[in-house]
Amino acid sequence: MPVVKPRCEASPLDDREGVRSSLAKWFSKVGKDFPWRRTHEPYAILVSEMMLQQTQVATVLGKGYYTRFLDKFPTVEALAEADDTTLLKAWEGLGYYRRARMLRETARSIISKHHGHFPETEKELLSLPGIGPYTCAALLSFAFSKPSALVDGNVSRILSRLTDDDSPIDSTLTIRKHRELAYFLCAPENPRIHHYAMMELGQTICRPGVPHCLECPVSKYCASKSPETLPVKKKRTPITLVTENAIWARNSDGAILLHHESGSRRNGLWKLPLRTAAQCESLQLIAEDTYAITRYKVSLRVHLSKNQPTKTGEGDEWISLDQLETLPLAAPFKRMIARLLPDF
Ligand code: ADE
Repeated sequence: MPVVKPRCEASPLDDREGVRSSLAKWFSKVGKDFPWRRTHEPYAILVSEMMLQQTQVATVLGKGYYTRFLDKFPTVEALAEADDTTLLKAWEGLGYYRRARMLRETARSIISKHHGHFPETEKELLSLPGIGPYTCAALLSFAFSKPSALVDGNVSRILSRLTDDDSPIDSTLTIRKHRELAYFLCAPENPRIHHYAMMELGQTICRPGVPHCLECPVSKYCASKSPETLPVKKKRTPITLVTENAIWARNSDGAILLHHESGSRRNGLWKLPLRTAAQCESLQLIAEDTYAITRYKVSLRVHLSKNQPTKTGEGDEWISLDQLETLPLAAPFKRMIARLLPDF
């Protein structure tokens, strides 16, 4: 069913002042008050943006990850000095742990190259590790109140619809076009509010699928005829199914055999030890789960180890239940251990 949508009366390109003031007025009435919207402190803003890149606002807020992380690492210096275990523990539950290590790299670079002070120009920010165009734009506007080309998934959807553009939003050409348009529309006197409003519009009104056009503050600037068909994305790479075979082994002290991966290509998290399908053939299957990571769907199968295995793989360690709580565990394995050890 087509969306009921008010008529387009003006192009956002011809009346950007109208777009800006409609958005600001709307946001002053309905805008949400997140903790990271109350601060101008670049470090606190960087932490929030890194967390929010692949995790929902509700998760970051509801489970207290943001405030706990800032309590643990209140400054760039504190984060730069964090060791792997403490850092990954503080990030536990947020997933995509590369972000935590990258955040620490950014902090270290701010210390070593900028004497601990955040740079305030686009060029310097972009030269920091872990800061791409989106995070750079967020810092410029949210921390330093400068206009910027802030485009995330929500903003990109709005821009495709405003301009009735069915070019793929993940194509190089459209990414560039959207950055130019986002900068053109950004209100120079209050870039913070402008970008918050755009993000919030995407989160609440200009939703993926069927948007709520009758409630939209900028519907009169929107050229789309079938907004539910926008945005368009390039074809996806197909999901690959893989199986992981793990073993569940406890020794006479009650300790559990876990595996710790380290080195440049590993993520430093603890898991149950993985074995080949052949090694698990004669073992009893005791639990199964599935999880998704990047373009893989993983079927995790856990087998009961026969007798008491000795450590067989490099990185295998016996871990007591007390120690278990202090170690950063990969999320699917943490869930699995909780099932197998109901008191954990
Ligand atoms: N406000 C500021 N940054 C945000 C983000 N990344 N997601 C949602 N709201 C935000």
